[in-house]
Amino acid sequence: MTKAISGFSKLSKTEKITWLTTNFFNNSETATQTLTSYWNTDAKLQQLHDEFIENTITNYYLPLGVAPNFTINDTIYTIPMAIEESSVVAAASKAGKFWQERGGFKTTVLGTTKVGQVHFTYDGDKEDLQQYFDKITPKLNEDVEEITVNMKKRGGGIKNIALRDKTAAVDDYYQLHCTFETLDAMGANFINSCLEQFATTFKEGFEADARFRESGNTLDIIMSILSNYVPDCLVRAEVSCPVDQLTEKDIDGETFAKKFVQAVTIAEEEPYRAVTHNKGIMNGIDAVILATGNDFRAVEAGVHAYAARDGQYRSLTHASIKDGIFTFWMEIPLALGTVGGLTKLHPLVKWSMELLGNPSAKELMQIVAVAGLAQNFAALKSLTTTGIQQGHMKMHLMNILNQMNATPDEKQQTINHFKSNIVTHSAVVTFIDELRS
Ligand code: MEV
Repeated sequence: MTKAISGFSKLSKTEKITWLTTNFFNNSETATQTLTSYWNTDAKLQQLHDEFIENTITNYYLPLGVAPNFTINDTIYTIPMAIEESSVVAAASKAGKFWQERGGFKTTVLGTTKVGQVHFTYDGDKEDLQQYFDKITPKLNEDVEEITVNMKKRGGGIKNIALRDKTAAVDDYYQLHCTFETLDAMGANFINSCLEQFATTFKEGFEADARFRESGNTLDIIMSILSNYVPDCLVRAEVSCPVDQLTEKDIDGETFAKKFVQAVTIAEEEPYRAVTHNKGIMNGIDAVILATGNDFRAVEAGVHAYAARDGQYRSLTHASIKDGIFTFWMEIPLALGTVGGLTKLHPLVKWSMELLGNPSAKELMQIVAVAGLAQNFAALKSLTTTGIQQGHMKMHLMNILNQMNATPDEKQQTINHFKSNIVTHSAVVTFIDELRS
């Protein structure tokens, strides 16, 4: 057994698989077959995926589904969603249709500012540093001219560079806190390139400054990196309707609206509930982010920080009833791109973008926010009425049937049976066992 290896990345794909399957699996043939069965028969397409990351051995599929009937600011969208969780797309579709019949979703982009920072230490007089910063600022802008020229032509670029004194938190710690407008690009590369040039210019200028040479003070760059916390890259999504329009077959609109608002209030005040509540929002958000080739880790990190911005983790959504009108809304930070990255590279991302009418980053922010709001509406509607398990287990039924290798006929009989019976894992197993005996 050689479970450690050097030079793994230099092996061919086949050699990597041989090393893995012979060292970690009981049946290396089956383990190899599992991997190769997911290879694409189109060699060019496979090569594209191989080259996305290092050490690719196969493809990892997620279902790509769509949720139709989303009216957003009077335009109708079918939203692509890449996700493995059974009930998410069904819930989104239901919520889309529900609100389409009640005026649709209204959205506004409240800001598009992105942030990056150069973190550094300096051990001298604060006033001297401020004077040096004021003097060097024009050169900071000048030295990134080449990086920013195209972005500026399109109307974006650097918005501001500020010196921030953080010495109260960490000894000798300061920042260049920089803000950017990156238009349709998520902007990570653009921002990081600018920041690294700022750092070089800032350090070189410091070393060339006679005042600091005399004083013997030092300035050390610690790191230069964008921030995924983007509270000023913000979008608002909202639905509203008269309370009586919420009445459905088994639901009285007024009772439902009150309970719904209570559920949201609980999530605003109670962190244990808020985390699950927001997780449900991210079910919708991440699925669209993945389908459109954006970075869901970046969005997740920024969104959760925003949910805790006043020091307590709270619900991202809010709800009210005023003068007989039910309103449900969310403001959420989303730094997204519709150019660059995977957007023109991954065929399914390209497809998803076309399905959405090739949106700008601002439009995509609005669509993604709506998917999150819709998902939360669907979850709270189930939770405060039927409970979540009824719908959830119905969707999960197919997973249980697949685990049991059910035949098409067994599947059909089981689905028919559970139309009027409660789905639990053991009830399904018992039903199939009885069918088979
Ligand atoms: C499950 O993935 C998401 C929910 O738990 C969200 C919620 O509780 O609001 C249903």
